[in-house]
Amino acid sequence: MSVKVQPKLIIHGGAGSSLQGKGGVETVRNSLQRILAEVYGRLENGTAAEDAVVRGSQLLEDDPLFNAGVGSVLQSDGQIRMSAALMNGTLQRFSGVINVSRVKNPIELAKFLQTCPDRVLSDYGAAELLRELNVPKFDPLTDRRLYEWIEDRKQDFNRKMANVVAEDAEAGRGTIGVVALDQNGAIAAGTSTGGKGFERIGRVSDSAMPAGNYANAKAGVSCTGIGEDIIDECLAAKIVIRVTDGLSLKEAFERSFAESTQNQRDLGAIGLDASGAIAWGKTSDVVLAAFHDGEKMADSLEAEPGTQVFVV
Ligand code: GLY
Repeated sequence: MSVKVQPKLIIHGGAGSSLQGKGGVETVRNSLQRILAEVYGRLENGTAAEDAVVRGSQLLEDDPLFNAGVGSVLQSDGQIRMSAALMNGTLQRFSGVINVSRVKNPIELAKFLQTCPDRVLSDYGAAELLRELNVPKFDPLTDRRLYEWIEDRKQDFNRKMANVVAEDAEAGRGTIGVVALDQNGAIAAGTSTGGKGFERIGRVSDSAMPAGNYANAKAGVSCTGIGEDIIDECLAAKIVIRVTDGLSLKEAFERSFAESTQNQRDLGAIGLDASGAIAWGKTSDVVLAAFHDGEKMADSLEAEPGTQVFVV
C-alpha cells in the first residue's frame, strides 16, 4: 500500500489595493474559510487534486464577492466574458477556455477539456462546446457589477461605444485560484476570472495561459493581478520550473517576486510543492489568499501593503 501524504490546499480570491469594496476583512475571511473547509475535507476523504481544484474553483466562482463566474466584471462594451484554466500536474496537462459567456462555472469547461484533443477553446469554440454539452444558459451578472459599470461609464456614454478601450484607473485585479496537493502526492492548479474589467473586446487574460496557471509533479501555481504583468513575467510557469530545477518553493517565490518588484509589476500568486510547502506572494497592496496545511487555516488578508512573500 502506498504511503498517504498530508493534503495541502491554498486558494485565492484576487489581488488589489483595498478590501473595502469587498466588505472588509471578516467578510472575505468567512468566504475563504468556508470554501477551504469544504475542499480540504474532500482532500482528507481521498478526493484527487484535480477534482478538489475544480470544486474549490466552482465555489469561488459562485461567490459574488470574487471576480469570476457570478460576480464577474463587465468589459468595455458591457458584456461579461470569462476565462478559466485547469492544470493536472501529474499529467502536466493544461486545458482552458478564453472569453466564454453565459455560463455559471467556466472551470467546468476546462475540466471537460482535460481529456479532449483540443484543450484550449476561445469564444466561438467555447460557446459551441456549451451548446454541445447542453449546459444551461446562465447570466453571471450581479446588480453590484452592473452598478459599478454604469457609474464608471457615466462620462463615457456621450462617446461612441466603438471607441471604448480599457480604462487604466483602478483596474480590476480580481481572479480566483486553487492549488491542491492530494493524499497521493498529486498536484493540480486552477484559475478563473472575469478579466480586468473595461478591457477591449478580445483581450485575452493570463488566467487561461501557463503564465497565470501552471503545475507539474513538483509544484503548482495560480496567479492574480494585472494579466499583462503576469504574462510579461510568465509567473506561474517560471515559479514551477524554478522548483523543478531544484530551488525550494521559498527560493522560487522570493526570486520571482524580487524580479516582479524590480519590473514594477502589479500581481500576486499562490502555490505549493510536492514536499507540502505552501506559499503566497504579492507586489500589490492586497492579495486574498488563504490556506489549510492540515492543522490550521491562515490567510494573507492583514499583510502589510507592498511586496511580500510568505512560505510555510
Ligand atoms: N488576472 C486576470 C486578468 O488580468 O485578466
